[in-house]
Amino acid sequence: MDYHRNPDLDPAERDETFEYSLRPQRLPEYIGQEKVKTRLEIALHAAIKRGDVLDHVLLFGPPGLGKTTLAHVLANEMGSPCKVIQAPAMEKKGDLAAILTNLEEGEFLFIDEIHRLSAAIEEMLYSAMEDRKLDILIGQGPSAQTLKVDLRPFTLVGATTRAGLLSKPLHDRFGMVHRLEYYTRAELAIIATRTAHVLGVEIEAAGAEAIARRSRGTPRIVNRLLRRCRDYAEVKGQGIITSPIADACLALHEVDELGLDALDRSYLESLCTKFKGGPVGVRTLAAALGEVEGDSLEDLVEPYLMQIGFLDRTPQGRRATEAAYTYLGLKAAEAGPLFR
Ligand SMILES: Nc1ncnc2c1ncn2[C@@H]1O[C@H](COP(=O)(O)OP(=O)(O)OP(=O)(O)O)[C@@H](O)[C@H]1O
Ligand SMILES: [Mg+2]
Repeated sequence: MDYHRNPDLDPAERDETFEYSLRPQRLPEYIGQEKVKTRLEIALHAAIKRGDVLDHVLLFGPPGLGKTTLAHVLANEMGSPCKVIQAPAMEKKGDLAAILTNLEEGEFLFIDEIHRLSAAIEEMLYSAMEDRKLDILIGQGPSAQTLKVDLRPFTLVGATTRAGLLSKPLHDRFGMVHRLEYYTRAELAIIATRTAHVLGVEIEAAGAEAIARRSRGTPRIVNRLLRRCRDYAEVKGQGIITSPIADACLALHEVDELGLDALDRSYLESLCTKFKGGPVGVRTLAAALGEVEGDSLEDLVEPYLMQIGFLDRTPQGRRATEAAYTYLGLKAAEAGPLFR
């Protein structure tokens, strides 16, 4: 169904349904992450052969790399339904108990942002994951009784951008832990071409490459930039995403050759000038930038700056590298007094 063209939807909702419609449904359509895919393929085959459920899987890595997508792909490969919950939305132990006891045999439970489970709820997961049992406390005080409930076999898929914040007992109960990596340019170009195809817009190989180069290794960004380029091509070009169209469009949106945007640049400028290259704490940096939370810097800005060698995270705080200065220096020559 052509959800993303439905003019009745408000823009935010349209973005979400758009993202949904672009999600690969099966493993072969899921581009890149070859190592993770191979390991999962073996686990899937083995589980299917044994007639067993897939072992619990933890997926971690920066936003937009395909954790949610992969969770659904795994459920599809097992031919099982997938229930999705956001960890912060679960307030009481009863919420999780109700979900777990209602899972069908073989069903997938996807818990997003799993590092944000409350301690009490997390503890409840331990026996559910390990023994497929749930201890439910009935009543209060001395007359309280524990009721042991058997659960049907299920697969828990947890996703987090911060594996480091997961407690060891929870981490250890996952049979598989997979880290998603940033994608290569070639993979991102394939994703751009695939998305263009889904959207029914024509794209040249050089146009896909121009988008891939500026997508910070992230499929979600590919898809976002592609939408902008499609609009631009329709209005300013012949409806075909060529390399010059992509270049002009992305320049208009202030996405530079490295894929860094206005927030990344403000971050680097603040770190290199105001804080003289650091070390400085992320909260201090966030306060200096205004309107940004430390968490979103840690999730959205810093991982990629570290990946491209512009940033070091030290126990004392964030530090800019030589490369970051060089980058800003080059910019200074281009942009004039603003950066000097
Ligand atoms: N391997 C892939 N191949 C093709 N498209 C992909 C792939 N991974 C992700 N995408 C696309 O990128 C978009 C973002 O992926 P997804 O929502 O799964 O990321 P995420 O890791 O769950 O992000 P977050 O941490 O923000 O929840 C999806 O809509 C999907 O279309
Ligand atoms: Mg997700």
